[in-house]
Formats: sequence, structure tokens, C-alpha cells
Amino acid sequence: MRLFFALLPDEPTREALARRALQVQRRCGGRRLPTESLHLTLAFLGQVPTDRLPMLAAMTTAYSVPPGTLSFARFGAFGRRRIVWCGIGDGTGVGNGRSEDDVAAAHDACGLTDLLALQRGLIDRVMLAGVPIKEEPFRPHVSLLRDAAPADLGGVVASLPFSALDWAYSRIVLMASEPTGGRHRYVELARSPLETPRDAAATATHAATGVLPG
Ligand code: 2AM
Repeated sequence: MRLFFALLPDEPTREALARRALQVQRRCGGRRLPTESLHLTLAFLGQVPTDRLPMLAAMTTAYSVPPGTLSFARFGAFGRRRIVWCGIGDGTGVGNGRSEDDVAAAHDACGLTDLLALQRGLIDRVMLAGVPIKEEPFRPHVSLLRDAAPADLGGVVASLPFSALDWAYSRIVLMASEPTGGRHRYVELARSPLETPRDAAATATHAATGVLPG
């Protein structure tokens, strides 16, 4: 089976992402991912022997995910694959007067620091359990369009306005990607328990004790 771990948006976030997909399709053509398929991949496991599935499902249902919020702020593209996606933060690295500390602070603010820690921890756990993962640079994104048309896809999508969008997550999902008629259909196999969002927990503690957690 072809497996991956992902974050799935809640309904309002999914609809907001679908609106961004429509917006970018008007300019770039291509095929929109079905709204119900929108997701952010944390780890792509590729083909995994079916007998590993019970272990991976059990790992998932016991996995503790610190809740976080991702701030999506831009469109981007994988030009060679003709994919348009939306991405977290402004994507700017060190340089042009931006120090490493500036970039780290920006990553904290848009949720990337927490996301990278979640992704790293998950990959380590899966590999420790004996399921190999081909390590590739993690480029967190939500694919919106495939087969996009413009030749200078990166340049075109970077110039499009993007209405900022926050995605609060609190669980991971183990997914199968099943071939159907030349395409792939995503099927949810297991999900981690819903964790209490950090702000809600902080508010509850504050209300109960009158003391803000340090
Ligand atoms: P994509 O949207 O950029 O294609 C299921 O295929 C999910 O795993 C998709 O989100 C896909 O990203 C991601 N993925 C990551 N690496 C992949 C790979 N080597 N082959 C197929 N999908 C991959």
C-alpha cells in the first residue's frame, strides 16, 4: 500500500483552501484537487507492506500531537510537476538584511518551527518502528492545482494576491493513496486523538487558577 501521514483541514479551513484553489485556477488553468482531498503531507512513506499497517495504525491512534496553527500566506509552484500549492509564511530566507534570528522568529510566528518539530518527530518514530522513509527535504505545502498551464508558473503564482489563512491542527492522519483510473484517491486509515488546542488549555488553566502558565 502507498501510505503517507498528513494533516487534514477542518471544514472551514478546507473551504477556505478550496476558494484559494478556484482563485489560482482562474489564472493558471489546470485541475483543482477535489476539495475533500486537500491536505498537508508530513511524511510520504511510499509502498509499505500490508502487514505493517496494524502497527502504523496503532502508532497513529496513540500519537500525541501538540496543537499548532499554520499561517498560509502565499501561492507557490513546483514548475516541473505543474503543481500550484499554497505555502506557510512568506518563504523568505536569510539575506537582504534578514538575519538567521529574523528568519527563526518568522518561522515561529507562522507555525513552521512547530510543524518541522512535528514532522521530524514523526519520521523518527516511523523509522524507529522499522519502516524506512526516503528522506527528502521537507517542503510543507498544500497542493491546489495539477497540470497548471503558464510557462513561468513560479513567477505567475508569486505575483498573485493571497488572502492570509490560518489552519489550526491538533491531530495527524495516516492515509492511503489508492490508484483509481490513472489518478489517486486518498483514504483515511487512522487518526491520532484530538488534542486540546494550546490557547484553550491556557485559558482553562488561567480560569481555574488565575495564573497564566509559564
Ligand atoms: P504532492 O501533492 O506535492 O504531489 C500523496 O501522494 C501525498 O504525498 C501528496 O501530498 C504528495 O505531494 C506527497 N508526496 C510526497 N512525496 C511524494 C512522492 N515521492 N511521490 C508521491 N507523492 C508524494
